[in-house]
Amino acid sequence: MSPFQLTRTLPEDATDAALRADVLYGLTRTPKTLPPKWFYDARGSELFEEITELPEYYPTRAEREILLTRSAEIAEATAARTLVELGSGSSDKTRHLLDELPDLHTYVPVDVSESALKQAGQALLAERPELNVHAMIADFTRGLTLPDTPGPRLVAFLGGTIGNLLPAERAEFLASVRSLLAPGDALLLGTDLVKDESVLVAAYDDAAGVTAAFNKNVLAVVNRELGADFDPAAFAHVALWDRDKEWIEMRLRALQPLSVKVPALDLAVDFEQDEELRTEISAKFRKDGVRAELAAARLELTHWWTDTAGRFALSLSMAR
Ligand code: SAH
Ligand code: AVI
Repeated sequence: MSPFQLTRTLPEDATDAALRADVLYGLTRTPKTLPPKWFYDARGSELFEEITELPEYYPTRAEREILLTRSAEIAEATAARTLVELGSGSSDKTRHLLDELPDLHTYVPVDVSESALKQAGQALLAERPELNVHAMIADFTRGLTLPDTPGPRLVAFLGGTIGNLLPAERAEFLASVRSLLAPGDALLLGTDLVKDESVLVAAYDDAAGVTAAFNKNVLAVVNRELGADFDPAAFAHVALWDRDKEWIEMRLRALQPLSVKVPALDLAVDFEQDEELRTEISAKFRKDGVRAELAAARLELTHWWTDTAGRFALSLSMAR
């Protein structure tokens, strides 16, 4: 097998159809919404990488600290021969884990961002020419089929990306992950933790405005792909903490009354002044909640590690 394979599980027109369906549904309901997976074209993936370097955005550094200190334990507990990573992005932190998995046969990064997968694949193979990398352009919420590679299988879902799914979506997602696992396989899950509101809001509303640009990038994606005429300057970036739901919500607030055309859908969308479009939730977790959500998907929490400041957790759970 070639050391780098790239598989597209969805034909390109399926991605287009999914975007059309999401935009039609999301922009014609009240309140308006768009799913966060559409942030990640090449520019959005670059902006996310910039976010990970911001002083206010602690999750990446916190999770890296855990991976640096716990990867050997993860390797021992899982003896993984196949590492599947969902929403792998740059695969940057994953290197710490790859360094500690002596029997690894294949790394399977899965992402909707083709540019992120290609860049990550090139970088990994330059450093580790012996590693088999089977990259997959796929939507992890849409019933994945994985390549036939040796077990035990470890599925990693890092960065706190599970928090970008709504609770019902999380339950469905975890059940679908469980269906990919045989007894003895494991899930390594990164979850950002509930903490002080000011710390959370700053992480999603940074002083340099990178998160604002990331948020508005979804409008550029809809403009380019569906011929829409969103003016990103006509929207303000909003990040707020929902204390009851324990999640951050990112929104785009119309600064004036607007009418936006989406020619590919033959649609005109009106915004009142101050009307908000929800673009992302980023749920924050507590240990008991994570354990319960895993258990509902028949996954048993066996390890729970946090960074020294207690901001972020990495958990390991096993399929029995
Ligand atoms: N895991 C990396 C990247 C997190 S950013 C880290 O911890 O830094 C979230 C990543 O998930 C992006 O690369 C994005 O393209 C990908 N992503 C978001 N929604 C997705 C979906 N539904 N299916 C597959 N990948 C998705
Ligand atoms: C990918 N995901 C975990 C990020 C988060 O923190 O929810 C996406 C992000 N949104 C704004 N900043 C980063």
